[in-house]
Amino acid sequence: MSKYTLHVNGKARAVDVEADTPLLWALRDTLGLPGTKYGCGVGACGACTVHVDGQPARACQLPVSSVGKRRITTIEGLDARAMHPLQQAWVELDVPQCGYCQAGQIMTACALLKQHPRPTDAQIDEAMAGNLCRCATYVRIRAGIHRAAD
Ligand code: FES
Repeated sequence: MSKYTLHVNGKARAVDVEADTPLLWALRDTLGLPGTKYGCGVGACGACTVHVDGQPARACQLPVSSVGKRRITTIEGLDARAMHPLQQAWVELDVPQCGYCQAGQIMTACALLKQHPRPTDAQIDEAMAGNLCRCATYVRIRAGIHRAAD
């Protein structure tokens, strides 16, 4: 075990884990942030998406030892004051079905909106292609992103 300081949701947080522990498990099991989900563990589904220095990243593929001082944002830290417009849109449009993948969907969508504040359907489809939803809520996800962009 080794000690690392992670910068998560605006706070420095100490963890004592093996160097190759995926960030996902440090967030969930050590830091008590279960919003980031485990789906596949091999970087294929997007359920574990967080932001690393503002860019979407798969927490299941990032060893804690590789994170350094980069800023991690999880769904819990997306908007400290109130619900983020994406979360508000998700509620208004009843986007989730089982809900399991939706934190990852929102994190990827948030990064998209920073890059393209009013994305086209094609930009949404391209950005969201790596976030799988077993309930196939893709039409509502796209609608939710458009709602949040309004
Ligand atoms: Fe990380 Fe699927 S759990 S991409």
